[in-house]
Amino acid sequence: MAAPSLLTTTFALLLLALCCGRSAAQNQSIIPVPVPTHDKGCIHLPIIHSTNVNYFSKRGVQLQLANRSDVAYYAQLSIGTPPQPVFVQLDTGSFELWVNPDCTTVDGADADFCDRIGQYDTAKSSTVTSLGTTKTLRYGIGSANITYVTDTITLAGSTTALQDVQFGVATSSQDAFSGILGIGYGKDIATRYLNFVDQLKLQNATRVKAYTLALGSKEAEEGVIVFGGVDTSKFGGGLTRLPIIAADQSPDRVPRFWVGMNSISFTSPAGETREYANTSMPVFLDSGSTMTLLPPELTAEIGRDFGAPFPDSNGFFRVDCALAEMNGTLNFAFEGVTISVPYKELIREVPGTPPACFLGITPSSSFVLLGDTFLRSAYSMSVFVPSVC
Ligand SMILES: *[C@@H]1O[C@H](CO)[C@@H](O)[C@H](O)[C@H]1NC(C)=O
Ligand SMILES: *[C@@H]1O[C@H](CO)[C@@H](O)[C@H](O)[C@H]1NC(C)=O
Ligand SMILES: *[C@@H]1O[C@H](CO)[C@@H](O)[C@H](O)[C@H]1NC(C)=O
Ligand SMILES: *[C@@H]1O[C@H](CO)[C@@H](O)[C@H](O)[C@H]1NC(C)=O
Ligand SMILES: *[C@@H]1O[C@H](CO)[C@@H](O)[C@H](O)[C@H]1NC(C)=O
Ligand SMILES: *[C@@H]1O[C@H](CO)[C@@H](O)[C@H](O)[C@H]1NC(C)=O
Repeated sequence: MAAPSLLTTTFALLLLALCCGRSAAQNQSIIPVPVPTHDKGCIHLPIIHSTNVNYFSKRGVQLQLANRSDVAYYAQLSIGTPPQPVFVQLDTGSFELWVNPDCTTVDGADADFCDRIGQYDTAKSSTVTSLGTTKTLRYGIGSANITYVTDTITLAGSTTALQDVQFGVATSSQDAFSGILGIGYGKDIATRYLNFVDQLKLQNATRVKAYTLALGSKEAEEGVIVFGGVDTSKFGGGLTRLPIIAADQSPDRVPRFWVGMNSISFTSPAGETREYANTSMPVFLDSGSTMTLLPPELTAEIGRDFGAPFPDSNGFFRVDCALAEMNGTLNFAFEGVTISVPYKELIREVPGTPPACFLGITPSSSFVLLGDTFLRSAYSMSVFVPSVC
């Protein structure tokens, strides 16, 4: 199917962000998330990291999401009448919203985490309508059978209540410890119905179909997503405009936030920079992926530079934890902007005695994407029409 012409006029903005470090996590109750006042036409939703013990702890102990993720990113929605708060994972790489994972299909810490994100009970909402249609959603990790409903979704701190928003309620799921808020393209591009981002615009909660995503550093444990425009208070420098590659010219022919990357280079702690060969390629920006996926030869080269020439059987490069304290960076260059990712944000530490450290990059011969290991150090944005909040 030919991509609508709309796509050719879209663009993404990337900005180097040395700024996103809000000070240490504050002392807050688990639910609800306090939200700043919204400007007209813009919705500011806090992004809560899975590591944030103020929201997701069990007796103050950090819940470890087994193996796959050191940090994942959540937003809180309130669904139904009266509103039921649930956390959903923010995912720029998918298109649909669904809730109610089956927590019994995940183990240990994942299950504990799953139990804390909240469930939506259709029987307790006076505004729900069941659409009676079903679908199976599949992700890089995890899948869910959903039935579609519509209901009211309120956004904390806003008078806006979106009416009759379509989303999925899982009837079963595998390997998923939370629901997902897909904020990729919606109706007529990637979905057959108006998705969450479409509804924000349609119901005038935002002036434009756009958002700015600032995940926030690992240390900050909080970020913000601004639906409807750019939060200028978050940007020190200029924004760089990057064209989004149209679906029919993209590697997987799916309308996603594919952009052209010019190169990747390595800067050692001593400050020497070296560019990797053959690193000009299309990449897509995926907040729903903890890891960054790159071609196997390239990950092996990067691994070597981190003292780990071979991945383990899970595809992870185990590195010396001391590297996370060092000053080097991995640099992703685009036309007009280079995002330098500090070792600290690139290396994932899996708690244990002693802790184990892994590169946040894993080999894939089928797919190239820049996940959270990259996005934490960038502001990324996709818009149809630029707007300022
Ligand atoms: C913050 O959390 C600590 C430890 O749980 C507690 O002792 C303290 O009273 C809290 N402070 C506020 C302002 O809630
Ligand atoms: C990671 O995965 C391996 C293999 O699937 C499993 O044996 C191990 O227990 C997992 N580690 C954690 C911390 O869940
Ligand atoms: C979805 O439903 C089908 C049919 O009942 C089942 O075989 C499958 O395992 C389910 N998938 C998930 C992810 O729960
Ligand atoms: C949104 O604003 C437009 C333009 O002002 C108006 O035509 C439309 O009725 C509004 N929609 C809603 C749901 O308020
Ligand atoms: C880069 O790609 C070209 C063409 O695919 C290949 O001939 C060359 O060997 C590659 N260089 C490296 C360093 O991988
Ligand atoms: C990293 O750089 C900062 C600022 O230039 C410096 O103060 C610090 O000592 C460096 N740390 C290491 C481990 O080299």
